[in-house]
Amino acid sequence: MSTRRLSVVVTRRLPAPVEARMSELFDVTLSPDDMPMDRAALTDALQDADILVPTLTDTIDAPLLAAAGPRLKLIANYGAGVDHIDVSTARQRGILVSNTPGVLTEDTADMALALMLAVIRRMPEGMGAMQEGVWEGWAPEALLGGRLGGKRLGIIGMGRIGQAVARRARAFGMHIHYHNRRRLHAGLEDPLEATYHDSPDRMLPLVDIVSVNCPHTPSTFHLLGARRLRLLKPSAVIVNTSRGEVIDENALTRMLRAGELAGAGLDVYERGRGVNPRLRALPNVVLTPHMGSATHEARLEMGEKVLINMQTFADGHRPPDQVVPSML
Ligand code: DGY
Repeated sequence: MSTRRLSVVVTRRLPAPVEARMSELFDVTLSPDDMPMDRAALTDALQDADILVPTLTDTIDAPLLAAAGPRLKLIANYGAGVDHIDVSTARQRGILVSNTPGVLTEDTADMALALMLAVIRRMPEGMGAMQEGVWEGWAPEALLGGRLGGKRLGIIGMGRIGQAVARRARAFGMHIHYHNRRRLHAGLEDPLEATYHDSPDRMLPLVDIVSVNCPHTPSTFHLLGARRLRLLKPSAVIVNTSRGEVIDENALTRMLRAGELAGAGLDVYERGRGVNPRLRALPNVVLTPHMGSATHEARLEMGEKVLINMQTFADGHRPPDQVVPSML
């Protein structure tokens, strides 16, 4: 690699220390206003960049990659999920892709538990009564919810985040069931006393709460479609802190409205910000704005990972967090 400072385009504002360090190491174009770049701006930015640092708000598809300049050699994603990047096409074009796994695991798992608790303990209804000033005082039968302890949790996707959810759920006294492409080895499964199901179809009828923790890939798109959602008990609750596309949001909304499911806690949505308005009207649904990794700590550590991936690449090596199509 030459001694020329590599040219980097960052599409969104990152934590100040991350931007500062990046600017010391590279010839960086930072986002002036934190607005997601539109396609024309992104195409423009890719003409002279050696490295692009995008986020999940940028769609890096085959046509965009085809329009990129010849210098583009690394897409160092600020985030773990890479479903907005066409990793296969990037690879064919000799462009490496890296991400930031591991550093948002615990915070995302915290959010999954927070959503479970918020739904089954009816937190929004309680908060609403307080905020509207209509609380009439303690009553034996007011706002009764459920208890996490003793419930069966069905985790879809038992990677880092799924396992972190399981550890927390165990501490709450839940029983762990999971579906994953591959069964965990005993060293991981046994401490969680987790039961493996090779098909979601066998797991879903058994569980009280479902936590979606698998990535969005072509094979997990609508993994929880109408047919599978109907396998759940009507008393079941679904929590999703992964990607909205894994659940058929319209089917979920219909079933929640019809009382065929008891509740949902969603941090992610099938159509990004275009949340189904009917979901917003339901009292048994808790919606948060994709904030699973939104802690100061995670966002800083994500930036540190991006920097390590970039610098390792600049030093002529493969980035430690390189994503290859076979991982997806
Ligand atoms: C990720 O990194 O993919 C997360 O969804 C961002 O919160």
